[in-house]
Amino acid sequence: MKPVKVGICGLGTVGGGTFNVLQRNAEEIARRAGRGIEVAQIAMRTPNPNCQITGTPITADVFEVASNPEIDIVIELIGGYTIARELVLKAIEHGKHVVTANKALIAVHGNEIFARAREKGVIVAFEAAVAGGIPVIKAIREGLSANRINWVAGIINGTGNFILTEMREKGRTFPDVLAEAQALGYAEADPTFDVEGIDAAHKLTILASIAFGIPLQFDKAYTEGITQLTTADVNYAEALGYRIKHLGVARSTANGIELRVHPTLIPADRLIANVNGVMNAVMVNGDAAGSTLFYGAGAGMEPTASSVIADLVDVVRAMTSDPENRVPHLAFQPDSLSAHPILPIEACESAYYLRIQAKDRPGVLAQVASILSERGINIESIMQKEVEEHDGLVPMILLTHSVLEQRMDDAITALQALQDVVGSVVRIRVEQLN
Ligand code: HSE
Repeated sequence: MKPVKVGICGLGTVGGGTFNVLQRNAEEIARRAGRGIEVAQIAMRTPNPNCQITGTPITADVFEVASNPEIDIVIELIGGYTIARELVLKAIEHGKHVVTANKALIAVHGNEIFARAREKGVIVAFEAAVAGGIPVIKAIREGLSANRINWVAGIINGTGNFILTEMREKGRTFPDVLAEAQALGYAEADPTFDVEGIDAAHKLTILASIAFGIPLQFDKAYTEGITQLTTADVNYAEALGYRIKHLGVARSTANGIELRVHPTLIPADRLIANVNGVMNAVMVNGDAAGSTLFYGAGAGMEPTASSVIADLVDVVRAMTSDPENRVPHLAFQPDSLSAHPILPIEACESAYYLRIQAKDRPGVLAQVASILSERGINIESIMQKEVEEHDGLVPMILLTHSVLEQRMDDAITALQALQDVVGSVVRIRVEQLN
């Protein structure tokens, strides 16, 4: 059988990895796909020193690849929302299947892209968009298709996890670790996407859609970054038996779906609390399978290429199949997507870690306890530290039981209004993940 011809758009970290793994493992991949996969064109602006390209036509214009009649599958690895969207839509218009690693594109424009792909009977595959080398899209979309999924929780930004790990284990500074993540090719072009949780929210949006069968709704995701985390909170969390991770949580409740990314205390003995460095992990809780955990490299050249090529193999196998009988883009049949709403953060529920800086006076703890009890907030534990020399204040650390965010907002406003409470109350959500 003639090889399938693919065009790679973008020869950066992931594009270079994809090209190299396709060459290195060509035989193994062809044995799996049933046909060879030939890179028939590459669009790139700057040569990638990691790639030895001989004989493959090169262009600087990605749109040439999208309209190249020779090409069956376009691999979009340029990133960003604008040109990538045009490129993917153009490839679809030309009847080409698309493989992309672009989480921002899928999270923001996926509904439109999938609708156009359905009209044209082509596949848009995006395994590499979430959690790098971990085949979690396939696992949820196909492996867990018997389940009513209750929740998904994941460490889905390698850069953020790398920063938190290095800060906790080696006491390194935030900018120092970020610079290393950039040099290693983990970080986004704009690293605020990593540290402010936007990248994780893109991925969580995709996971929530395939887990719950809802349209992609990135604009409704709640996002809080890790830039405000202090070593003090990391250490207090440890003392209480928790680790702080930048977690994406998508939970189905009777009222709607929680879709939130924020720093989170997780019991230190959970496997996911011990996922360190650039590694990612996604926990999925389904009513039949119970909890499953998917772990692996969440970023990097070859791990992400592994997912891109797995998609390529899937597309090659499914190319000749009836489009109606393919795995739906978002796991559920497009006419069966649910309108269950995404909840605003005020309507989400979780337990909380609070750190209150108070003057060392009698009765402060009683006032704090009464503000919480008046709002029905149940305290799980309290830790009061000795007076700090530099400011003469006493840190009080509390863990609460689960409560509606709105109620906690109200309690924090009241706490901050107390005469003996100084500055803002630190609030970090807590997830037991059991
Ligand atoms: N910047 C992303 C991360 C790359 O650090 O996880 C993989 O999506």
